[in-house]
Amino acid sequence: MTIHHVSNYAEMCRKAANMISAQILLNPTCTLGLATGSTPIGIYERLADAYNKSDLDFSGITTFNLDEYCGLSENDPQGYYYYMNEQLFNKVNIDRAKAHVPNGTAGDIALECRRYEALITAAGGIDLQLLGIGNNGHIGFNEPSSAFEKDTHCVELDEETIIANARFFDNPDDVPRRAITMGIGTIMQAKKILLVANGEKKKEILQKALYGPITPMVPASILQLHPDLTVIWSDT
Ligand code: GLP
Repeated sequence: MTIHHVSNYAEMCRKAANMISAQILLNPTCTLGLATGSTPIGIYERLADAYNKSDLDFSGITTFNLDEYCGLSENDPQGYYYYMNEQLFNKVNIDRAKAHVPNGTAGDIALECRRYEALITAAGGIDLQLLGIGNNGHIGFNEPSSAFEKDTHCVELDEETIIANARFFDNPDDVPRRAITMGIGTIMQAKKILLVANGEKKKEILQKALYGPITPMVPASILQLHPDLTVIWSDT
């Protein structure tokens, strides 16, 4: 595990964007795992800047997002597909056919989970997975539970997650109760993992995840077992 402790959010984003850029430059047809939430916004901004300066070409890459809310369509401003469009996809030359987000409106959610997992396998797995961490230690939407779930699956969101994510919705009652998420096995199979976290409110859970016991009650704690984990942690 490599930990970079930096002093501010801008520095965290710069370092993370550099690592993702290096991955794309080394392998222009690589597969990236992408995350949502407020933490990666500055990272996507820097990647879009690099594209505008002709330093990065996204045309050959494939991406898989970690998760999506059940019931929210691609056009829903609160959905993660919309978020990815706004934060990155609309700003760079990514091939939309190769930019994947689970379909939260699929008629058969179990089938959609299997389809998504199979797509990742068919792409040869993920070369670099970007991760944030939830206040309760979740990664993707893998919530604390009695066992680690291996593959892409449907989850009931924790009350704590619903409250934390209510800030993105006009009405807290609109926060979906279920989501599709890559499984812990899907995430752990990524060749490299880049975990980013910032601010005082994430400090305690990050400590638990990186130095505490490995337990499904702190889903991110499994990352201690990953052979190529980089953590970029910033105080603000
Ligand atoms: C969401 C996402 C996670 C993300 C986490 C942290 O629930 N499903 O992938 O890492 O919340 O979000 P934030 O970066 O806004 O703190």
